[in-house]
Amino acid sequence: MEKQVINNYINSNKDRFLSELLELLRIPSVSADSKYKNDVEKTAEAIKQRLIEAGADKVEICKTDGYPVVYGEKIIDPKKPTVVVYGHYDVQPADPIELWDSPPFEPVIKKTNIHPDGAIFARGSCDDKGQMYMHVKAFELMMKTNTLPCNVKFMIEGEEEVGSPSLGPWIIKNKEKLKGDVILISDTSIIGNTTPSIDTGLRGLAYMEVEVTGPNRDLHSGVYGGGVANPINILCKIIASCHDENNHITIPAFYDKVLIETDEYKKELNAAPFNLEEYKKDLAIEDVYGEKGYTTFERTGIRPTLDVNGIWGGYTGEGAKTVLPSKAFAKISMRLVPNQNSDEISEIFQKYFESVAPKGIKVEVKPHHGGEPVVISTNSAGYKAASMAMNDSFGIKPVITRGGGSIPIVALFKKELGLDSILLGFGLDSDALHSPNEHYGLFNYYKGIETIPLFYKHFTDLSK
Ligand code: BES
Ligand code: MN
Ligand code: MN
Repeated sequence: MEKQVINNYINSNKDRFLSELLELLRIPSVSADSKYKNDVEKTAEAIKQRLIEAGADKVEICKTDGYPVVYGEKIIDPKKPTVVVYGHYDVQPADPIELWDSPPFEPVIKKTNIHPDGAIFARGSCDDKGQMYMHVKAFELMMKTNTLPCNVKFMIEGEEEVGSPSLGPWIIKNKEKLKGDVILISDTSIIGNTTPSIDTGLRGLAYMEVEVTGPNRDLHSGVYGGGVANPINILCKIIASCHDENNHITIPAFYDKVLIETDEYKKELNAAPFNLEEYKKDLAIEDVYGEKGYTTFERTGIRPTLDVNGIWGGYTGEGAKTVLPSKAFAKISMRLVPNQNSDEISEIFQKYFESVAPKGIKVEVKPHHGGEPVVISTNSAGYKAASMAMNDSFGIKPVITRGGGSIPIVALFKKELGLDSILLGFGLDSDALHSPNEHYGLFNYYKGIETIPLFYKHFTDLSK
């Protein structure tokens, strides 16, 4: 019965649901680049408008020290449960722009092998405008069909891609306003369009910037080469020393707090279908690579990592310039798992980098943003409702997965609001989030809009 109401409404509004999303995707809301400040603010304004149109009350653009949070709510009965929806309207920078097949902020629909029904190609299509907007449309659907079974609050932020610096303080100031029973987020992936899954954890993050200084100026690499430490050589050496031959991280105390999952849990995690050949083919790699003794799901889900995100220094222009550079730089991130702590790991990293540098080289380590890992219980009403909703809409019970990415604010929702988050994501890992040609399947977009009202219904029923 409910399913019919949902599908009828989606079918009669399909084209508009799509064109509204495309309009949002045309605004380049890149939070990392101040050049797009106006566009980020314009996006907040657009979302406010859409929430009002969908039927939300008390819709407001809440100022913060950074980009605003868009808030809106519908309280149908204070005695009923409240779902707090979180999402983000900011997007990653589009660079390297020359690798896009179509302009990143001019969405086009194209068919792919994985998305035979078509996918929307645009920055933010999957992460997270497309997924966030499913919630606005699912809410509209429930409002217009008189099927909203509980209360809802929207909290859509504009700084997720830069570590949510302003959302934490905003939450702490607005605890009363954000009172609810569960946080619902679509900002993660499923295994495949015929293999629904729910992330039951996210990794944390410690992001560092390293500056290595040798001589006080760039030198002639012939005159001085061999006699003075080269900061790029040293930086590479230190980075290489961070992993041993088994790809285990060598920084002392790095693994001290890592939660070792039980064999039973690992079995459940590995029960999710994984096609190694497809995985390799999609990435055009001959083999996977990682910590010895762990499967790919384990490596990306329950094990921490250390990766260089960028490295620079010296001469990188055309031709050859013989130079022994004065400085070298790297941005290095570590993905963390329970029960590692971002500040502790940052400190451990800093100590290690400073202690291994030879005399004649100065190493400076600056931490950027971080975030704590989270695990999500499968025993809660929220998880059960999500599982039932996906089972209804996909016709298959979702398996559990662990998200390798990070949504740092999730740990804060627990700490400050006491609320569990449910990661009801619909993207695919192969949707190229943060990469050129990011896309989001039309199937996934509509499947999300179909599944969300079913979550509300099951969550309300289970909360009775
Ligand atoms: N939506 C992603 C996180 C994600 C993607 C989790 C896929 C699980 C599966 C989010 O927008 C993101 O990119 N987060 C950043 C963190 C940050 C502090 C910039 C990340 O994981 O790098
Ligand atoms: Mn995201
Ligand atoms: Mn992202």
